[in-house]
Amino acid sequence: MAPSRRFFVLGNWKMNVNASRIESLSRLLSEVKLDRKTEFVVGCPSCYLSHARSLLPSHVAVAAQNCYKVARGNFSGEVSPAMVQECGAEWIILGHPERRTIFGETDDLIAQKVTHALSAGAKVVACVVERAEDRESQLTEAALARQMQALAPAVTDWSRVVLAFEALWASGTGVLATPSQVQEVLYMLREWLRLNVGSHVAETTRIIYAGSVSAATCQELASLDDLDGFLVGSAALKPDLVSIVNARHPRPSKLFVVIPARPVYRKA
Ligand code: PGA
Repeated sequence: MAPSRRFFVLGNWKMNVNASRIESLSRLLSEVKLDRKTEFVVGCPSCYLSHARSLLPSHVAVAAQNCYKVARGNFSGEVSPAMVQECGAEWIILGHPERRTIFGETDDLIAQKVTHALSAGAKVVACVVERAEDRESQLTEAALARQMQALAPAVTDWSRVVLAFEALWASGTGVLATPSQVQEVLYMLREWLRLNVGSHVAETTRIIYAGSVSAATCQELASLDDLDGFLVGSAALKPDLVSIVNARHPRPSKLFVVIPARPVYRKA
C-alpha cells in the first residue's frame, strides 16, 4: 500500500517580523483559502509565539525556531520546550542551518535538544544540511549520514518528527536546486532511514525540502516521489506562502493570483 504522508509546510518567519507584521501576515492567512489537506505550521520568534497563536486560524500550528536541551536552570537567554509550548508552540525547529553555521550548534547539541523536546511532548522539525562544499566535493551522502547518525538515536518517537533537508547552497544564493537534485537527496535520506532505523519509519516519516522554495518552483517540486512538503524562509513573508501551502492542489486565492515566474535552475 502506498504510504500516506500528509503534506507539510512550515513557513519560517525567522527574525523578520514584529507584532504588527505578524498581525498583517495572520490576517492574510485568515482570509485566503488554504488547502486543509496540508499540515501548515508557522515558525515564529519566541517572544511573539502567544501573539501569533492568538491571531492565526486554529488549523495553522505555531513552531518555535529553537529551544534549549533542558527544562530549566541558569541558562540566560534560553527558553525550554515547556516554555514555548505554554506560549502556543506545538512544534520546535531544531538544527536549522542558521543555528548550525551562525551559532555553532553541533550535531551532538542538536541531538540532545531533540531528545529533550520530544520528551517534553513537543513535535520537532529536525534539519539536516547540505553545504556547497559538500556538493562540490561529492560528500553530500557522507555529510548527511554524519548528521543522521547523530540525530537518529535521539529520536524516541519518529511520528512526532519531520525531517527537513536544507540545501544551503540553494538558499538565498540565486541558484536553485533542480527537481532531480532534490529528489536524489530526499531518496538518499529515506534510504538511510530504511537501512538504519527501519522500513516503517522510512515509509511514514515526512521529509521536506528547504532552499529558496517559491510560488514559481513549488508545484513541480511537490510532485517528487520522496518530497512531503517544504520549509520556507523568504517566501514565508510573502503571498507566495499561500501557493506553497496549496502546492499539491493549486487554485487561485480570492486575494492573490500568483503568476509563477520562470524558475532559474542550475545545470545538473
Ligand atoms: P529560504 O530559507 O526559503 O529563504 O531559502 C529556508 C531556510 O533557511 O530554512
